[in-house]
Formats: sequence, C-alpha cells, structure tokens
Amino acid sequence: MDFLTFAKERYSVWSLSDRPVEPEKIEKILEAGIAAPTATNAQPFKIWALESEDAREKAASTTPCAFVKGAPVVFVIGGDPGKAWKRPFDRHNFADVDAAIVATHIMLEVHDLGLGTCWVGFFDPAKMKQLFPQMEKYELVCVFAVGYPAEDAAPSERHALTRPREELVETL
Ligand SMILES: Cc1cc2nc3c(=O)[nH]c(=O)nc-3n(C[C@H](O)[C@H](O)[C@H](O)COP(=O)(O)O)c2cc1C
Repeated sequence: MDFLTFAKERYSVWSLSDRPVEPEKIEKILEAGIAAPTATNAQPFKIWALESEDAREKAASTTPCAFVKGAPVVFVIGGDPGKAWKRPFDRHNFADVDAAIVATHIMLEVHDLGLGTCWVGFFDPAKMKQLFPQMEKYELVCVFAVGYPAEDAAPSERHALTRPREELVETL
C-alpha cells in the first residue's frame, strides 16, 4: 500500500475491543515513536506506556473521553522544554512540536499494526501530573488509548471532511 492510501485509510477509533495488545506490538509502537525526528535531534520527549490497570485507570480519570477507560494500553507523550531546541530568532521552544511528531509516528504505527487509537488532547494536564509526578516538567501533548478496534468501529463523519483546498494550501 502506498503511503497516501495508508494515511487516508487511518481514522480515529473511538470503540476498542478488550482483546489484549501483544507485548511485541507495544514494543513496535515504542520503536516507531523513538524513530521520530526532533529538532537538532535533541530527543526531548518521553513516552509513557501505561500497561497496569492502576495506571490506565488514573489516565482515564483525567479526560471526559469515555473510550479511554478500559483500553488495553494507554500512551501519554510529552516534551521537555528544558531539553528542546529553542529557535534563536524568537526563542520558540520546540518541545511540543517534537512530542507531536513522536505522537504522529505512534498513531501511524498503531494503524499499521492493525490496532486503533484516537489522539486525545481533551485531558487535564494538571491532574495527569498530580497522578503521575514523573510527568511534571513535560508539556503533555496527547493521550492514546490503544487496542484492537471493536466490531462496530467505523470512521466518523468528520473523518472525510476537509476544508476547501484553497483554504489549506497556497502555492506562491
Ligand atoms: C491534536 C488532536 C487532538 C485531538 N483531541 C481529541 C479528543 O480529545 N477527543 C476526541 O474524541 N478526539 C480528538 N481528536 C481526534 C479528532 O477529532 C479527529 O482526528 C478528527 O475529527 C479527524 O478524524 P479522523 O482522525 O478519523 O480522520 C484529536 C485529534 C488531534 C489531531
């Protein structure tokens, strides 16, 4: 399958089965995240793989997105502004940009493995850091609830919606 077909085929999976995710697949997901490019190769990111029931439940309690609860494995991704590249012109800190690239690699690897996930940005980072003190210094960019798609999983109507091309692309 060519990349464009693959990228268009991926969709946000909001309905997961309770089938466990094999450890080899979790390892591949982590490997895909680690392979992501970062500014100056600073690698200022951290991927937390929440496998225990206790950790997964804690993460689920930080978001109103109900589908996170009960997911076989949950990933949280963050960037450390203290380690990230700062653009000299405006001191822009690339921690969340780098973390978002890592997250995108993970999202696509999940799809490639026949699993499903949805990028969750709607969570309370303060509560997450309170529950997981090791996340304190990070900018947390996303939570992924990962598992095998449930039988009724299907793309939402929003999946196919795109703004007009001329609004999104300007050729100069
Ligand atoms: C940065 C980001 C944050 C998102 N946050 C949430 C979220 O908190 N809850 C949710 O249900 N979906 C969330 N989504 C999923 C988007 O709604 C979804 O990607 C979009 O509607 C397009 O659908 P598709 O992923 O099926 O193509 C998020 C996606 C992105 C990229």
